[in-house]
Amino acid sequence: MRVIIQPDAGAVAEKGAKVIADLVRSKPNAVLGLATGGTVVRCYEELIRIARAENLDFSQVRTFNLDEYVGLDDDHSQSYHRFMREHLFNHLNFNLDHCLVPDGMTQDYEAYCDWYEDQIRRAGGIDLQLLGIGRDGHIAFNEPGSSLGSRTRLKTLTQETIEDNARFFGSADAVPRLAITMGVGTILESRRCLMLATGSSKAAAVGAMVEGPVTAQVTASALQLHRDVTLVIDAEAASWLRRRMYYQQVEEAERSLTTTRREPAR
Ligand code: PGA
Repeated sequence: MRVIIQPDAGAVAEKGAKVIADLVRSKPNAVLGLATGGTVVRCYEELIRIARAENLDFSQVRTFNLDEYVGLDDDHSQSYHRFMREHLFNHLNFNLDHCLVPDGMTQDYEAYCDWYEDQIRRAGGIDLQLLGIGRDGHIAFNEPGSSLGSRTRLKTLTQETIEDNARFFGSADAVPRLAITMGVGTILESRRCLMLATGSSKAAAVGAMVEGPVTAQVTASALQLHRDVTLVIDAEAASWLRRRMYYQQVEEAERSLTTTRREPAR
């Protein structure tokens, strides 16, 4: 796992957006796994800025979102459908027919979740999956105890997640109790993962994910088994990492290697 520690949340957003923009530049028909939540908002703002400055084309990009609340229709102010349109899709030339967010209004969960998995397979799999992390160590809505082999399915939210998301709904009572979410196994199949985390409230979860055991009690820890994960965090979110000096040394070594490689052969 590559751990990149940035000074602040703005720098995390810039780094994250650059990774996504680099992929779309080199592979215009890339398949992106997308996330919602407070952390990724600035990353999407920065991506929009880069894309406009460079005239980046998103018309062939396909996207799959991680999750959606059950019972919220596409236009509900807190639905992830609406979040994605407002924070990303409406601002660039995405083909909305190729941008899937799980349907929180489906009546047949099992058939729908199988269909969603099938759509990911038919698209050729996810090239880059963007992720946030919950305070309870969840990725997508894979709450503690979720099987590390799980697939897209219905999931009950923990009280911690409900309380964290109450800020968006006005009160905890208004937060849906259920969601459709990609599984941990689904996420592990993406070719590359990019996780962003900022703020001291995420420090314990980041510490457990990177340096704790692989356990279903911290579903993000399953990313230790993935071969290509980039974690971009700010100094506050890094504050529980015991080996953070080492991660910084790795980044310095990587930078000097890149500089050496760029020098002309003598
Ligand atoms: P947040 O959510 O960015 O709103 O903190 C992240 C998550 O729960 O995955």
